[in-house]
Amino acid sequence: MNGAGSAVFHDDKVLFSMKLCKVKFFPNERSISVRVGSTLLKAASMAGVHINASCGGAGTCGKCRAIIQEGSYRTESSIHLPEEDREKGYVLSCLTVVEGDCKVEIPKEARRGEGAQVATGIPGMELLKIGEREIRPRTKKVHLKISPPTIDDSISDWARLRRDLNSAGYGELTITCGLSVLRKMGRVLRESHWDVTVTLLWSSVELEVMDIEPGDVTQSRYGLAIDVGTTTVVAYLVHLNTGEVLDVESDLNAQIRCGEDVISRIVYATEIGTVEEVHDLVIETVSGLIKRLTRRNGIRAEDIDSVVAAGNTTMTHLLYGLDPRTIREEPYIPTVNLFPVIKAREIGIHSNPNASIYAVPGTASYVGGDITAGVLASEIYKSDALTIFIDIGTNGELVLGNSEWLVAASCSAGPAFEGGGVKFGMRACRGAIEGVRIDRETLEPECHVIGNAPPEGICGSGMIDVLAEMYMAGVIDPKGNFVPDLKTDRVRPGETGLEYVLVRKEETEIGRDIVLSASDIDNIIRTKGAIYAGFRTLLGEMGLTFREVERFIIAGGFGNYIDIEKAIILGLLPDLPEERFHFIGNSSIIGAYLVLLSKEMRLEAEEIARRMTYIELSVSRSFMDEYMSALFLPHTDMSAFPTVSEIMQQKRGSD
Ligand code: FES
Repeated sequence: MNGAGSAVFHDDKVLFSMKLCKVKFFPNERSISVRVGSTLLKAASMAGVHINASCGGAGTCGKCRAIIQEGSYRTESSIHLPEEDREKGYVLSCLTVVEGDCKVEIPKEARRGEGAQVATGIPGMELLKIGEREIRPRTKKVHLKISPPTIDDSISDWARLRRDLNSAGYGELTITCGLSVLRKMGRVLRESHWDVTVTLLWSSVELEVMDIEPGDVTQSRYGLAIDVGTTTVVAYLVHLNTGEVLDVESDLNAQIRCGEDVISRIVYATEIGTVEEVHDLVIETVSGLIKRLTRRNGIRAEDIDSVVAAGNTTMTHLLYGLDPRTIREEPYIPTVNLFPVIKAREIGIHSNPNASIYAVPGTASYVGGDITAGVLASEIYKSDALTIFIDIGTNGELVLGNSEWLVAASCSAGPAFEGGGVKFGMRACRGAIEGVRIDRETLEPECHVIGNAPPEGICGSGMIDVLAEMYMAGVIDPKGNFVPDLKTDRVRPGETGLEYVLVRKEETEIGRDIVLSASDIDNIIRTKGAIYAGFRTLLGEMGLTFREVERFIIAGGFGNYIDIEKAIILGLLPDLPEERFHFIGNSSIIGAYLVLLSKEMRLEAEEIARRMTYIELSVSRSFMDEYMSALFLPHTDMSAFPTVSEIMQQKRGSD
């Protein structure tokens, strides 16, 4: 029989009954018992098995493919799963419910990016930047040799400890401590013969003794800087005495199974699942990173006493377990922008339970702490040069300004450049096509793949390349439509219209042709159009043009690899001299790192968040007009792209 009957008993009465069945996933051989009627996607999530689920289980992305090797199930057909694949046994996990025990294979493409390393920045660089400032984190370890009590000196342990801290120069603020420290204080003091190290945590009004340990352990002081990205979470393990970045670890945000962009996460947390469920997933990701970092570096998780996280407003709400629903409802108001300092134990982060957790503050629902951190790291708020800062992540946030003023906006670009909404889209990791060149005569592509591995998909920079190349080679027209009657079998009818075959299945890792379809092209053009329209609208609001912008700072893992010329041909970036563009990698984590190490930086971050004036583009008429004009390659206004016009004229001349 498939599926085992089961019942839950209490006080000899059946409270309710349900049928459970066992689902075993391959290749990682994880099993889970779930209720009959659960979707495969839900079962995988409960088993901790990663499946790409860009649409969060809505049945529209076609990425959650699985093969049921044996067992009883029910599945729905979908236009996102071709007939040919259905015949081979593929199902979509979100449209398949288990009705009995099942063995399920998750194919490689549905696991794409799982556990992969991503670009994480260069620790040495950040150390140089902090090197100019005093390292003054919020926490400090102080070694004390306390005189034991006597009949003549009979004050309590806590009063004795406070007295010694006062004499060591820490008496300027009220000294407090929590119950968990009090509970162990007497024992630790006596077992250590009154030779202890206390961990102190500063707030603006008090000094808290957050831990007490035997002996001199002042060297065991660690902190974490975390970039809580919608797609990827990156953590730096930092020695708080020296500021040295000891190690870096990253992983996919486990929430990705609830959807790839912030809106699908909010919908999942508030309508499909629960806020707690989505909160637990990010905590699971962060705890996994801590486990790996501490194990690899031979330190105890309890020695991490300070954590600074930077993320967009939705990610930070979910990290704190706050309901994010109002972020997507007009007038788009978050619960909080300046997040309170909390304890690790309050949200379940696997560190010292009393460790302070601080989230870099944001400005608005769609300009969060990751952008504040980026502005802090790039120092545009200190420079006289008019600068545009852009973080091309899942959302596409922009900041324009200088030392006197800052305006910010989010252009809802969507996750295309991070792999979402593009059939073979993936993050920039091993197996991703990151560069493409198309022969102008034969229309044959030549692909460069990260890690020189057989390709599995296309990452953001690959998308920019392939689209610019298709345009330059005459495969698509300025509207992104396929040019008819091309002499190549690379362009063919696909499931949803014409498509260009980038790599044939024999050469791929996934055994399927990697293609760029008409709807993928449409998605990429919409994404680039939203970003470019964001630039123009923000400049227009301030009565400025691109000509006056002295620097473009491009942040985000994606920004490490982007080909400027191709991005200009596409109309993603303005047609300006290449030397005005600068890449700074993952500025969110660099900013979090600076805040972790310096109270002064924390205050500056708070000042930046307060100073940035947020402009809501979604209700701006001029943004919509700019957006419509930007849905062409490179743009409807070719006079804004003289270099591209020249290239196209040369091409026409040589044709
Ligand atoms: S189609 Fe299943 S998660 Fe998108």
